[in-house]
Amino acid sequence: MNTPVVIEVRDVAKTFLVPEHRVDTLKERVVRPFRRISYRRFEALKGVSFDVYDGEFFGIVGQNGSGKSTLLKILANIYKADRGRVRVAGRVAPFIELGVGFNPEFTASENIEINGVLMGLTRREARRRADRILDFAELQEFRELKLKNYSSGMMVRLAFSIMVEADADIMLIDEVLAVGDAGFAQKCMDVFRARKRAGKTIVLVTHDMATVQSMCDRALLIDVGEVRYVGDPEEAARRYLRINFQRGSNRSAAGEPSDPATGGERMRVAVPQTNVRLASARLLVNGEEARNVEEGASFLIDARLRAERELKDPLFGLQVFNDEGILIARPPRWRLPEQQRARKIAVDEELAVQIELENPFVPGRYSVDLWVAEERGRDEIAVQPLRLISFVVYGTGEREGIVRLRSRCSTELGQPPTGSHEIGPTMTSASPAMPTASPTDVEDGVL
Ligand SMILES: Nc1ncnc2c1ncn2[C@@H]1O[C@H](COP(=O)(O)OP(=O)(O)OP(=O)(O)O)[C@@H](O)[C@H]1O
Ligand SMILES: [Mg+2]
Repeated sequence: MNTPVVIEVRDVAKTFLVPEHRVDTLKERVVRPFRRISYRRFEALKGVSFDVYDGEFFGIVGQNGSGKSTLLKILANIYKADRGRVRVAGRVAPFIELGVGFNPEFTASENIEINGVLMGLTRREARRRADRILDFAELQEFRELKLKNYSSGMMVRLAFSIMVEADADIMLIDEVLAVGDAGFAQKCMDVFRARKRAGKTIVLVTHDMATVQSMCDRALLIDVGEVRYVGDPEEAARRYLRINFQRGSNRSAAGEPSDPATGGERMRVAVPQTNVRLASARLLVNGEEARNVEEGASFLIDARLRAERELKDPLFGLQVFNDEGILIARPPRWRLPEQQRARKIAVDEELAVQIELENPFVPGRYSVDLWVAEERGRDEIAVQPLRLISFVVYGTGEREGIVRLRSRCSTELGQPPTGSHEIGPTMTSASPAMPTASPTDVEDGVL
């Protein structure tokens, strides 16, 4: 290819020091003031190399925690690589994760100014563009609202619009399509197409294989900080799915097939297929749309899908990950109600998905993937993973472990030894499952 290289990445490595134990609460500081914090080294990128050519639409795919955002932040000069070389030719506009670079205590217009300046605009320029940005984001009436009161959809619209208005040669985009409403996702797509036509380069991190297949010229698959593949987007999507399946089966204790949509049946060949498109996904807490959830509070995910092709009796599965990419839960798969299974779903027909989840998660960031699958004959299954939503669980509770286990624990002394082996009224005889006696008050079993 004679097209010039605009992003050249050679042997880039990045290691984070991750605290083994975070001192987060006042209680902790008081109770254990001298507790030493130890760190473990975590290699998020292990010598990554690739090129992006001028005018390319370049996809980056990979599982949660594989290093995509870290890589993008290095390209955007937000992080410095420990090793290796990055050369970026041209002005870069990064749309990094939601909310990075935003101050929740400031209003939208104040944040626009700050972001604009960070992107290299003068303060006056940034101010002048604020109107255009708020127009594009359809947020004029909320310009004086503090960002902490914005919904996730509003936030994405704002961040994306700021990036669009920066009019750079290279756009670095992390997961814009996964959040927000269908109308806005369409608007983003239109912007991408227009920018591509104008000869701009776009690097898009996404979990949506349909976008990768339909929009990207080439795609990179990254896994545990290493490049596994660069090239044909279809092939990258296929390999991404394969890695997902292998990972799932290694992680599942019973060694059942990993495909979350097919559950515990025989292993079938999974073919990536665009079955549906995500029209919208909202997080609801007590019926109100929310970005974040307080620890322990249950919530609902309310999503709309639109069929991309004719579908019959699709299977649905969920995967919940934490921000280290650890699969935390894979609730049972499900299908449409019995009476709707025989009917074919037409192209563009909507499917309403309601997911109610309990919330045992310790504070941190989580994401929920939805898998939509359709059987094709005996041995093949057409699957599509979709990033449904990503959210933060906040609170002041302990962050050790992965979930809070509700537990009731007690200890009591048995009868003094009498010489016989008769079992007295001890824990074991009270109940085979759990002692019913009220335990000493230990909050939620966290010791
Ligand atoms: N600032 C940080 N400090 C410590 N660890 C970090 C930091 N940023 C990222 N990591 C870790 O590095 C790994 C890669 O993170 P990264 O955010 O790049 O993954 P990702 O591929 O973008 O995942 P996702 O699909 O969930 O967005 C993760 O295990 C993450 O926990
Ligand atoms: Mg990321």
